Parts: sequence; C-alpha cells; structure tokens
Amino acid sequence: MRHLTAADLAAFERVYRLNLVNGLPGYKPANLVGTAAPGGPTNLAIFSSAIHLGSDPAVLGLVTRPTTVPRHTYQNIKQNDGCYTLNAVPLALAAAAHYTSANFPDDESEFEACGFTAAFRDGFPAPYVAESPLSIGLRLREEHPIFNGTVLLVGLVEHVYLAENALRPDGTLDLTALGVAAVSGLDGYHAVAAPVRFGYARPGQVPVAE
Ligand SMILES: Cc1cc2nc3c(=O)[nH]c(=O)nc-3n(C[C@H](O)[C@H](O)[C@H](O)COP(=O)(O)O)c2cc1C
Repeated sequence: MRHLTAADLAAFERVYRLNLVNGLPGYKPANLVGTAAPGGPTNLAIFSSAIHLGSDPAVLGLVTRPTTVPRHTYQNIKQNDGCYTLNAVPLALAAAAHYTSANFPDDESEFEACGFTAAFRDGFPAPYVAESPLSIGLRLREEHPIFNGTVLLVGLVEHVYLAENALRPDGTLDLTALGVAAVSGLDGYHAVAAPVRFGYARPGQVPVAE
C-alpha cells in the first residue's frame, strides 16, 4: 500500500494536490446553492460540502471557500436575511450544474447562463432550482471560521420540497428514484445504485461472517 505523509501532500504540484485531497472524503452530495442579492441578480453555484448537523431542529452545514476573494454565494446569503437554497442535482443535468462553478461576472446569473430556472416559492427570498427534485430553503444561523480561511455555514432548514416519489413510508428518502448525482473530487459526477439497507444497528445483532 502506498503511504503519503502530510509532507508529501504539501510537496505535490498544486492541481495534483487539489485533485487528490478533494477525493479523500469519498463520494459527496451534488447540490446547487441558489441565492439572490436583495432586489438584484440571482446566483447559482455547485457545492459538494453539504453535511447533516442535526435533525431536531433540522440543521445543515455548508463549507465556503476563503472569502478573501468575492464569493457571490456568501455575500448574497449575508445580504438577504441569511437565506439560501440547496438543490440536489439530477445526473442528467450534471454538466450544466458543473458549469456553474465557472467564474461568471457579477451581473450574469448562472441560472440563465447554465440553463436552470429560478423559482421563488412561498415568500422565501432565495431562488430554488425548478429542475431539481429535492430543494431545501435554509436560513443562516451561525458561521464558524476554520483556521485555513474556509467558513462553515450552519443553516436551519425552513422549507423542503420533494418530488412525490421521493419519500418511502418510513420517512427515508429514495434518492436513487430521484436520479440525483454524487460527486467525487472536483469534477466527477456519478450515478448512484439503490442502497442496501440494514435498519437501526443494535448490539447483539452484529452479522457474523460465515
Ligand atoms: C464539484 C464541485 C464542488 C464544489 N464545492 C464547493 C464547496 O463545497 N464550497 C465552495 O465554496 N465552493 C465549491 N465549489 C466551487 C464553486 O462552485 C465556485 O467557486 C463557484 O464559482 C462559487 O460561485 P460564487 O462566487 O457565485 O459563490 C465547487 C466546485 C465544484 C466543481
């Protein structure tokens, strides 16, 4: 087995290191983050860093890159009552979703540039992606600066919109039925197979290999 140390990682060429380290967490969710400047243009960006932080209340985290250069998503969230949306990316739209990461000028909305439809729902001030089968409206509750300049945004879930076929009877989400993509590294988009489910794990029920 190959052994890489922190010193090896630091010595790699930048893009090589970026590719390698972005793959380390494994498969990640593909989400489009929708925001809007108050009375201004909409913004859409692909984010793979959404994480679950708690169910009651429902809380999700998102990591934003260092805000040393202008980050439209972050600026819009701060200026628009902390509101933003997370929209799962259908695999069929992965190419367009990936393209939202390009450096678009301030006044050009990635919604139009990449072929997505901005949908404003139920008075929430941030736009949802109409083409997404699973969309969440969040309000920023806390932000935690990380030592490397990135920022963990902690958001409370205020709205969830699901396609009718998304929910199983026990409340679990059938993400494969929705056809949403997973991400690896910085540019890999995957179809996901149906899960093997094991239910709630209890001691005494550990499967023994025969
Ligand atoms: C697959 C993929 C995943 C990404 N995940 C994140 C992320 O989790 N956080 C982040 O800040 N940027 C992420 N990016 C980069 C943003 O999409 C990119 O910086 C975008 O231009 C930000 O737009 P903004 O300036 O409008 O906020 C990712 C890019 C790609 C291609």
